[in-house]
Amino acid sequence: MPERKLRLAVVGCGAIAERGHIPAARRVGEVRLVALVDSDTARAEALARRFGVPRVAATLSGVAAEVDAAILATPPHVRPALAEEAFREGLHVLCEKPLANTTTEAEAILRAAARARRVLAVAHTYRFFPNRIRLYEMLGQGVLGGVRRIDVREGMPAGWPTRSGYPFRKEMVPGGVLLTLGIHSLDALFWWFGEPFAFQYEDDSVGGLESNARIRMHFAGEVEASVRLSRTCRLENRMTVEGERGALSVPVYDQRVIHQCLGGKEARRVVERGRSGLVHVVAEQLRDFARSITEQRAPRATGADGLRVVQFIEGCYAAKRARPLPEQAPIAGFTW
Ligand SMILES: NC(=O)c1ccc[n+]([C@@H]2O[C@H](COP(=O)([O-])OP(=O)(O)OC[C@H]3O[C@@H](n4cnc5c(N)ncnc54)[C@H](O)[C@@H]3O)[C@@H](O)[C@H]2O)c1
Repeated sequence: MPERKLRLAVVGCGAIAERGHIPAARRVGEVRLVALVDSDTARAEALARRFGVPRVAATLSGVAAEVDAAILATPPHVRPALAEEAFREGLHVLCEKPLANTTTEAEAILRAAARARRVLAVAHTYRFFPNRIRLYEMLGQGVLGGVRRIDVREGMPAGWPTRSGYPFRKEMVPGGVLLTLGIHSLDALFWWFGEPFAFQYEDDSVGGLESNARIRMHFAGEVEASVRLSRTCRLENRMTVEGERGALSVPVYDQRVIHQCLGGKEARRVVERGRSGLVHVVAEQLRDFARSITEQRAPRATGADGLRVVQFIEGCYAAKRARPLPEQAPIAGFTW
């Protein structure tokens, strides 16, 4: 336990701040949430009253001298400038995903963190789901033997209650379902298997932001992965890893259940019977961030992890741009 609590500001008081970061901060003994920052100060004030946070400001500079660390939970297009400012002020940063909209911006954030010698963590929240952690451990123990296939199906009609509407606004994000939703599962795959050496990508965009996407990836050791993402239709919402001795799978939106089929025997296991839910995993993420500062170690999802997945996604969009668009718009739901 650190001698003094980490004084924290949340910058961007939208949906994830309200449902995740702010309530989570109250559960983490290592931090004290002292300030809420939002360009919409009425919003920040309302949340400050509700959650008992003492300071409110319209800009990070208004509170930077009073805090040690900032969670950047704005839409991604404004985060490079905010991260730059936070590091200049000597703050540690937990940045929401995607780390940035482009590789160039993400690299600049990494450089600013290195210059300032401050921690940069990225909110790749699936890394804190108990079943994802357990699956990773089981893979490390060789439970499946050689891994052969990975299948990810993640999709439902978009319903996240964002205030800004950033997932659908091209001036705020360069991509749709892949960048705003699929990034979580991609980060989990890269965490488990490293980066793929080859991929094929397709999506349903005809000049706008994609709502459906499909990726095939090839990892070392002849491991093939198929990822299907949608923000228009409900899919199976499951990540499955198949190997020589059977299969392990987790429901995408469940944090504790893991299904295993090993040696012909099927079983459903509940990994942890303690707390679960968004606030719980976001609190674990914040605790890891706080401890990475006091223990001077890397956080579970580093800036380099954040950069890697942004780079991969940029590569997907570049591959898409290199192909001609269909002459007629495909009919959503028919082709996808
Ligand atoms: N890790 C996760 O599981 C998870 C879940 C949901 C969202 N997110 C990510 O969190 C980020 C925010 O998402 P959201 O849904 O909360 O967004 P949102 O649109 O609901 O809220 C964004 C807030 O930021 C404020 N803002 C915008 N520019 C600002 C600036 N320059 N300074 C201060 N405040 C500013 C807006 O006024 C708004 O209140 C996105 O990048 C999203 O991808 C992550």
